[in-house]
Amino acid sequence: MIVREMYHNPVLLNESIEGLNIRDGGTYVDATYGGGGHTKRILEELKHGRVIAFDQDIDALENITQDPKLNVIHANFRYMTEQLRAKGITKVDGILADLGISSHQIDTPGRGFSIRFDAPLDMRMNNQGARTAADIVNTYPVARLQKMFSLYGEITNAANLARTIERTRSAKHIRTTGDLIEAIKDCTPPHSPNRYLAQVFQSLRIELNEEIDALKDMLRQSETLLDKGGRLVVIAYHSLEDRLVKNFMRTGNFEGVPQKNMYGHDLRPFEPVTKKPVVPNEEEIENNNRARSAKMRIAEKL
Ligand SMILES: C[S@@+](CC[C@H](N)C(=O)[O-])C[C@H]1O[C@@H](n2cnc3c(N)ncnc32)[C@H](O)[C@@H]1O
Repeated sequence: MIVREMYHNPVLLNESIEGLNIRDGGTYVDATYGGGGHTKRILEELKHGRVIAFDQDIDALENITQDPKLNVIHANFRYMTEQLRAKGITKVDGILADLGISSHQIDTPGRGFSIRFDAPLDMRMNNQGARTAADIVNTYPVARLQKMFSLYGEITNAANLARTIERTRSAKHIRTTGDLIEAIKDCTPPHSPNRYLAQVFQSLRIELNEEIDALKDMLRQSETLLDKGGRLVVIAYHSLEDRLVKNFMRTGNFEGVPQKNMYGHDLRPFEPVTKKPVVPNEEEIENNNRARSAKMRIAEKL
């Protein structure tokens, strides 16, 4: 049994709900249900209408808010279009995505997301997934490990780190979070070990759960799913994700290259509602340290 209040403290709650510009009677998607904090607020704004929420983690589906307007689907949001179509929904009025992992996931020792607990090196958001983070560290070629650490963790000694992992695993299988931390101790800077290890863990998590590709798939689908005037609200916690969201909202592509038609008119599908990302205020960061890296962007479908 999972206690909901402790599951996750929703980030930028008022700002994101305001950003959705909720219209009574509308259909809204919460792509990342988690502890349901954002969903609950959307439901409060709707006398009529409905919320379809997604989460790929089965834990998120325990004790969901009982509301006839709510439908929670256990699926990756990259399959949003087909899941909605199966319910006869082809257009929606708003999509909210609060990316990454929940406090519940990181604080559950056995899930292997945290550097604080010794546990199997798992890190699957969807615990029915076939491979784990241990499979990545034990099987990826060095060059692929290096790329992953440098791209998703912004780790400066990624080449050394990847080679160190390869050396260790040829002698002993890396099975747990503790094994990994021990294996890379000579690469870990003594002045900020936790920060470094958190970056290593983050890169493994992003790679394993294919978070960048899932985000791109979801953003592309939002273009077709959103009705004119519908809002897309995305909260990102990683600069790479935020850049993709920013470019997509400005231009409709991930490179941020403006597209024009033959008459020289802009072809972009969205109008950004905020030029700069919305970030939590000091009070929110003080009350919820996990909010500190959040960046929220809002766009309206044209
Ligand atoms: C930051 S939490 C969301 C918290 C939520 N907004 C709340 O108020 O409780 C992110 C959640 O999204 C889920 N998630 C992340 N990526 C996903 C994806 N591609 N498809 C479905 N769920 C995903 C995670 O399992 C996690 O439960």
